Amino acid sequence: MKNILVVSGHTDLNDSVANKLILETLQKRLPQAEFDFLDKLYSDFKIDVKAEQEKLTKADIIVLQSPVFWYSYPSLMHKWMEDVFVFGFSHGTGKVLGGKTLVASLTSGAPEEVYKKDYTINDMLAPLKQTAALCEMKWAEYVYTGGVSYALRSVPEKRKEIEEKAKIHAQRLIEKLNGLS
Ligand SMILES: Cc1cc2nc3c(=O)[nH]c(=O)nc-3n(C[C@H](O)[C@H](O)[C@H](O)COP(=O)(O)O)c2cc1C
Repeated sequence: MKNILVVSGHTDLNDSVANKLILETLQKRLPQAEFDFLDKLYSDFKIDVKAEQEKLTKADIIVLQSPVFWYSYPSLMHKWMEDVFVFGFSHGTGKVLGGKTLVASLTSGAPEEVYKKDYTINDMLAPLKQTAALCEMKWAEYVYTGGVSYALRSVPEKRKEIEEKAKIHAQRLIEKLNGLS
């Protein structure tokens, strides 16, 4: 059985519908996986680098779970990566992440069609894919769901739709992870 680490980059899961439900479903269905809730651990953005590097070292499969914020990852996920993925650990003289599998899992407020035109999800993930290459990780692509905007969740039918999409997203991610394990 491979060790799975799910890193949640949402800046406030208390103010989340889609990512919260995806993560709750994963926790129920993957009880052996480790979960890293960055908003709960580091609301002050002061990352415990050693603790995070230890979690990554133990993992075989790393899932980055996050909403799209300004066509990229949220600030907290960026900060985590900037602090933790350092020369001598992730790349350069040390390659602790080498051979591990990296999976992206993301949600966006805009519908999926928006990311099939000028700027695609693949474009957004290019830096992450390149990071995986630098660290000699296996890039296992992504699971993505659009149309789950926070702006829609106050309308009861829309909120139901978001919840349905989140459940389907979690199922797709679990199937992907089962295929990798
Ligand atoms: C600060 C901020 C920036 C956002 N930027 C984008 C964006 O660039 N593109 C997009 O499609 N949605 C954007 N959104 C919408 C979020 O992606 C969406 O609300 C989120 O995926 C819903 O997940 P949640 O219910 O877990 O919060 C943004 C939301 C916030 C709060």
